[in-house]
Formats: sequence, structure tokens, C-alpha cells
Amino acid sequence: MTEPAAEAFTETRAGRQRLVLADCLTGMASLEAGSIDVVVTSPPYNIGIRYGQHHDRLPREAYLDWMDQVAAGIARVLAPEGSLFLNVGGTGVDPWIPMDVAGAFRRHLVLQNDIAWIKSISLGDETRGHFKPVNSHRFLNNTHEKVFHFSKSGAVPLDRLAAGVPYMEKSNVTRWEGAGRDRRCAGNSWFVPYMTVRSKRQKFDHPAGFPLELPERCLKLHGGQDLMVMDPFLGAGTTLLAAERAGHRGIGFEIDPAYLQAALQRLD
Ligand SMILES: C[S@@+](CC[C@H](N)C(=O)[O-])C[C@H]1O[C@@H](n2cnc3c(N)ncnc32)[C@H](O)[C@@H]1O
Repeated sequence: MTEPAAEAFTETRAGRQRLVLADCLTGMASLEAGSIDVVVTSPPYNIGIRYGQHHDRLPREAYLDWMDQVAAGIARVLAPEGSLFLNVGGTGVDPWIPMDVAGAFRRHLVLQNDIAWIKSISLGDETRGHFKPVNSHRFLNNTHEKVFHFSKSGAVPLDRLAAGVPYMEKSNVTRWEGAGRDRRCAGNSWFVPYMTVRSKRQKFDHPAGFPLELPERCLKLHGGQDLMVMDPFLGAGTTLLAAERAGHRGIGFEIDPAYLQAALQRLD
């Protein structure tokens, strides 16, 4: 496949990855239609996060209108058998954010899988993972976010077993997997904890990155080799790092030069 073009912008390369300092709408508009196999991304949630450049508190209508334009841009560059993994979370006072954003994307793509990203879970008396506690009489601590898997047809074949798990009960291996492969689909609840960090630097000086395992899982689930991966909201480059480690090519857009620099350092 030929490389999509984005030459008009300041671009840095690291391995197979292209990091582009540009607004994602203009950046995506420069790419060839259908040239991207997998998008793994997390847009700003419009909840007042203090980013370096982006103002994260737009009127809801303007925010959703922007998300609609982003969805149209992604739908145009996505290959017919491509996948978009869209991570969005809500807050106690505004739990509708992920659903509203998914509603904007629904106008352009088909929701194929609705994945819950579990950041922390209590099983009996034992708690695993991390979350930011909320001090409230009304709201529970928020321990999950959404990862919406969109595609063009809603019927893109996935490599469920590559992203799968071994059977707990081994007698099920022969019962469910005729050939006896000890692997089953892991389902649509993904426990992916944040690593324990003690400084902003360990979070790559970015206020809202996701853990590396999240894009890694998405790429495995989509399956295939030498994919063209895109993250229109690159941040500190987690998606492109996952792409590089898996041997895929990638392109990311980011408006903030400091975050782009952090992404570059992680990839170097
Ligand atoms: C939720 S963060 C993404 C974090 C990323 N997934 C990571 O793991 O580091 C959203 C990012 O989008 C960037 N951003 C905001 N508006 C943008 C735009 N119009 N084009 C490109 N990037 C933008 C912000 O600067 C921020 O870094």
C-alpha cells in the first residue's frame, strides 16, 4: 500500500511512525480516502482538562458538532475493512458524554462492538487497578470508560483469539474448540489498569493518556500485519507506540508541540 500523504505539515518520523503537528481535521483531509486500516483514539472529553493548547470546555452543541466532523474525517480515510476504536469516558455529573459522542459517530459509521474499559474492579474484598476517587454523596467512583468499536459495515472480521484468553476450565477446550486450541474470546469487558506512577513525567507530562495495553489490545483484535494505523488525537503517542511495537506503520496528528515531543521521545 502507498503511504498516505501529509507533507504540507511539520512532520517527524520515528521508526515506522509519522508524527504530524497539525489540527486533525486538516491533517486527515490531506490523506487518501480508504488509506487507514485501524484508528485507535481518544478525543478530548470536553470536561475541562487542562491541556497545553486545547480548550476543553466548549458548549455541548459545538463540541458534538466538532465530533461529527472528526467522525466524517475518520470515515473518509478508513479502509472498507478498517476498524475505529474510540475511547471516551463520562463523569458523575455528565455520564452522557460517551453516548452523545457515539451518537455523532453513528451518523458516519456502524457500531460493531461496545467495549467497557475497566480501570479498577473489586472482586470480593480485593480491589485491583487505579481510579481517581470522587468526593460525593451522589456519585459512585468512576472506574470504567467506553471503547466503541466502529466499522463501515458492522461486519469486519476480527481476530478474537489473538486478543483472547486461555480457558479456565480445560474440559471446555475440546467441547468448544474442536481442534483443541486453549483460547477463547475475552469478551467486551477489558480490565486494563493504569500503571502505578509517582510523577507527571512518568505520565509523559500529558494529563489524559491511556495505558499502552489498550491500543495493543485493539490492534490485536483487529488483526493483520503491516497495518496503517492512525491516531488523530495523538497526545503522548500511546497508539503509535503500540503500532511500532507490533510492526505496523502509523500516523498521528497533534496540535500541541510539547505533547508531540513527548510522543517522539517515547518512540525513539
Ligand atoms: C485525550 S488526549 C489523547 C491522549 C492519547 N491517547 C495518549 O495516550 O497520550 C487528546 C489530545 O488531543 C489533542 N487535540 C485537541 N484538539 C486537537 C485537534 N484539533 N487536532 C489534533 N489534536 C488535538 C490534545 O492536545 C490532546 O493531547
